[in-house]
Amino acid sequence: MKTLQLEEALRSRKFSFLSPSLLIAKELGLKYVIVEKNSITGPAIGLSIVVDKLTKNLPIKSMMDLCCGTGALAKIAYRNGVEKIVCIDKNINAAKRNLNGKNIRIIKADILRFKINEFFDLIVLDAPRGILPKLFKRFEEFLRHSNIFILWHGSCEEEEWNKSVREILRGVSNTVYSFSVYGEEISAASSTKKGVRWLKKFYRKW
Ligand SMILES: C[S@@+](CC[C@H](N)C(=O)[O-])C[C@H]1O[C@@H](n2cnc3c(N)ncnc32)[C@H](O)[C@@H]1O
Repeated sequence: MKTLQLEEALRSRKFSFLSPSLLIAKELGLKYVIVEKNSITGPAIGLSIVVDKLTKNLPIKSMMDLCCGTGALAKIAYRNGVEKIVCIDKNINAAKRNLNGKNIRIIKADILRFKINEFFDLIVLDAPRGILPKLFKRFEEFLRHSNIFILWHGSCEEEEWNKSVREILRGVSNTVYSFSVYGEEISAASSTKKGVRWLKKFYRKW
């Protein structure tokens, strides 16, 4: 995994300057992106749109960005007026540089072990697909510490896998909505009265 200057990525022959992650990074004014195995790790377009719409349309005051990578989702929330933002990743080089000067807490931690001891209106999880099964047992904890918990879980074509992620969520929450956005499957869940009300309103207008 390496942190690359956005300008360098935009000029590189390896990537197209029209790739969604680079376009989003540019729009958000990020200076650094993350490259792993010759591809840009994020931000994903579908999840970026969902975070933008959620933080623009609901009175969300606090957000935790789990596996924040570049910090793009935190920056979207910050732009939309979210007051308290906490970012977690095992590699915080890019987020630290991209979010420099903003009132955003950035914590270097392993998501598999990190304990949450605050409550947030929104918790976003954008973990690599490969480690998601190890995080299933933590979904209940993410829900207990938020009004809304959302996660990216892969391509919308992977029906069986997506169904199983939704089932895990339904096991710990009575309200689960799923969104297919630009080919990405994203689920949102809540276990609080306020979160359920917010999600219903959001889903009706989606
Ligand atoms: C898909 S990327 C997230 C992209 C991010 N949302 C963005 O906008 O740039 C996945 C992130 O998970 C992080 N990650 C992977 N395993 C992790 C772990 N065990 N603990 C914390 N972060 C982890 C990686 O460092 C990477 O930044």
